[in-house]
Amino acid sequence: MYRSHNCGELRIDHVNQSVTLSGWVQISRDLGGMTFVDLRDRYGITQLVFNMEDNQDLCTKARSLGREYVITITGEVNERSSKNPNRPTGDIEVKVEKLEVLNESKTPPFTIEDESDGGDDIRMKYRYLDIRRKPVQENLIFRGKLAVETRKYLSGEDFIEVETPVLIKSTPEGARDFVVPSRMNPGQFYALPQSPQTFKQILMVAGMDKYFQIVKCFRDEDLRADRQPEFTQIDCEMSFVTRDQILETFEGLTRYLFKEMKGVELPKFPWMSYDEAIKRYGSDKPDLRFGMELVELMDDAKGHDFAVFDNAEYVGGITAKGISEEYSNKDLKKLTEWVMRPQIGAKGLVYIKYNADGTTKSSIGKFYSDEVLNSWKEKLGAEAGDIVFILSGETEKTQKQLNELRLEMGRRLGLMEGKGYKPLWVIDFPLLEWDEESERFHAMHHPFTAPKKEDVDRMLNGDHETMKALRADAYDLVINGVEIGGGSIRIHDRELQQRNFDLLGFTKEEAEDQFGFLMGAFEYGAPPHGGIAFGFDRLCAVMNGQDSIRDFIAFPKNNSGKDMMIDAPSLIDKTQLNELNIELTVKPEQ
Ligand code: AMO
Repeated sequence: MYRSHNCGELRIDHVNQSVTLSGWVQISRDLGGMTFVDLRDRYGITQLVFNMEDNQDLCTKARSLGREYVITITGEVNERSSKNPNRPTGDIEVKVEKLEVLNESKTPPFTIEDESDGGDDIRMKYRYLDIRRKPVQENLIFRGKLAVETRKYLSGEDFIEVETPVLIKSTPEGARDFVVPSRMNPGQFYALPQSPQTFKQILMVAGMDKYFQIVKCFRDEDLRADRQPEFTQIDCEMSFVTRDQILETFEGLTRYLFKEMKGVELPKFPWMSYDEAIKRYGSDKPDLRFGMELVELMDDAKGHDFAVFDNAEYVGGITAKGISEEYSNKDLKKLTEWVMRPQIGAKGLVYIKYNADGTTKSSIGKFYSDEVLNSWKEKLGAEAGDIVFILSGETEKTQKQLNELRLEMGRRLGLMEGKGYKPLWVIDFPLLEWDEESERFHAMHHPFTAPKKEDVDRMLNGDHETMKALRADAYDLVINGVEIGGGSIRIHDRELQQRNFDLLGFTKEEAEDQFGFLMGAFEYGAPPHGGIAFGFDRLCAVMNGQDSIRDFIAFPKNNSGKDMMIDAPSLIDKTQLNELNIELTVKPEQ
């Protein structure tokens, strides 16, 4: 028997019992006559004690234990003379009578502690050691439980979990596909699903009524803290539903998960239209944990001979409260440099300091009198002691830049901390987005999203300009500024779907070739339907107040899309390439 108990469960009640434990050596401390070993497993840490006086051989053996050795011990539970209140097992220790080394370990390349000294890449290369660390382990346990609770709730609501294929034909969700060559069909490729979108719609045509799946999705796109090339969705679809019913169902799921997993009772989720979100926050995923809303200053700013504002399509500002004293000229210069970085792309930063003593200092003081600047205060919600930051330029770009600045100031001033969870439904997204570069419309959500009912006629018959104003029955769930989920009511009519493909620049043949199966299915009694997909990894991270989804994924990829542990992607054998009829035109990197 390897163990009678785990390393997290012994308490004062177990004193005098003989126990057997197995685990990893966290640390071994030799104090002359006594040797203490912290033994760790998934459940906790138990202190072992070896006494030189009692058993010299055993104590010598204990002294030779290295970090991460795997051992089994048998001994007696004793009450500790100096207790450790920070550990659930801190009242006891096990006086070891028998020790067996099950496996030795090399010295790990980083410390296996809550705060590790290992960098990202090394921790990923030795992910099995990283997962031994409590924070990572806890994240994975959280994720496992979250999946169980999700299944419980959705099954309780009559959703059926259906698996959809992984080797499919491309589904456009806005990213590039990962492709897999088909050996049996030379020159042909499968695509890995960016999402099971078309399959879940087909399942609605097939009468499954309520579908869900906790499913892997694959997108070949640039990686960020909240993006992985393979990630997991809670993917859902329902028939005979309105948008409001979908929002209610998935608000219910979200509320249930927060209650079960975090003990948090979320308030009713507010709704905000896409247009309002952009106007007030410059973002379709506003972080509602703090204010600092964008205030448009067009009428106020123009007509004072300041060409930058006079020529701008948009002038707007945000107010940072109570920092006029602490923000020096140097700080303002640094912040100006920050907004002018290529990632943000502002041409400059205008500030107005409303000093606590009632005076005003501004980078545009030459053009605007104190009286004029003071007259903006009310609109900006600014008071003595505040600084207002103003950006100007093209509307969309400037609003985005103000959003970045708002978030940065929120972070710098700690405005997001301790504010709990702020969920929001963003609704009424535009159906189509005009891309100047490619001179084409793109689907804002995806090509299967329905326009709002009142816009169907205009979509079928309207001109080019009309298309820009079409609204979709699409919605996103945002929590603390993170897009957790997105979905829509779908088109279930062949003609409308065909029209959408036309608008997106597909020829009839291309649409038929790629999506003939779906449009064909629509001709056999497709019910009205709609759904949503939650980013499961993001949900885990946001529920735990973390920015990066990586530590909620057992084996994540690094920023270059590489799995450092197994060294993927990698070269494949020439025979394998031949079998697949693939000839490389580049010399692969070694
Ligand atoms: P969408 O593309 O909005 O919708 O994706 C749904 C949610 O998936 C998460 N997500 C990601 N998470 C981690 N890494 C990524 N690369 C990544 N990409 C997306 C986000 C996002 O909100 N088929 C539709 C859903 C539908 O219409 O029902 C879809 O996939 O949290």
